[in-house]
Amino acid sequence: MLSKLLKFIRSYINKSQQRKYIVNGNLKTEADTDIKDLKLEIKLKRKNNLNIEIGSGCMIFGNFYIERPEAKITVGNDTFLGGSSFIAADEISIGNNVMFSWGCTVIDTNAHSLSHLHRKDDVAQWKTSIKNGSPGAYKNWDHVESQKITIKDNAWIGFNSIILKGVTIGKGAVVAAGSVVTKDVEDDTLVGGNPAKFIKKLN
Ligand SMILES: CC(C)(COP(=O)(O)OP(=O)(O)OC[C@H]1O[C@@H](n2cnc3c(N)ncnc32)[C@H](O)[C@@H]1OP(=O)(O)O)[C@@H](O)C(=O)NCCC(=O)NCCS
Repeated sequence: MLSKLLKFIRSYINKSQQRKYIVNGNLKTEADTDIKDLKLEIKLKRKNNLNIEIGSGCMIFGNFYIERPEAKITVGNDTFLGGSSFIAADEISIGNNVMFSWGCTVIDTNAHSLSHLHRKDDVAQWKTSIKNGSPGAYKNWDHVESQKITIKDNAWIGFNSIILKGVTIGKGAVVAAGSVVTKDVEDDTLVGGNPAKFIKKLN
């Protein structure tokens, strides 16, 4: 009798631990996060390689692109990503209680070299990748600049904004609609325009 009870308790604990998060290939998310509409493209997918980790209480719409096997996208808790694109060759880190409106693009890489001498084989490499059914497999990243992007807690990113490599958006900061953010934004600050400039302090 006692052993049956212990077995039942163990199996209940196991089940509740399993419910805590869901691992789907290269994506791990807490169970109470809603993934409403997500296009996921992982180039050079490696088995058991966690590229994307999403916390609890989030709602996710959008497109995630993992450009290299070591690239990561992490999202904290209670964050809303509304129909935007996140392209990572290095890392995109999004905090808690962040709101992304629709049509934004966050890209942590230039994706190509600025020198045409280093770009000259890009098209051929892309064509070979597609022909062999392995997008990105033949891409040479040696001369491509990439740098982590960090979006801190409570930030709000207005629709159709673009955030480029290396940028940190501070806590509670707001990016006005249609901005192109090329430089760091301080905490509790509104920026806007192309390139995004300081508009005012918040709070
Ligand atoms: C940032 C925003 C919320 C406005 O904030 P606000 O404090 O009411 O701003 P104001 O309208 O008073 O404008 C303040 C200044 O910012 C400028 N500004 C406002 N929006 C801007 C934008 N999108 N791009 C560039 N500058 C902008 C104004 O021209 C004004 O400049 P000035 O001081 O030189 O006159 C608003 O412009 C915005 O982006 N709204 C869209 C939010 C969104 O994406 N919603 C979708 C649902 S999540």
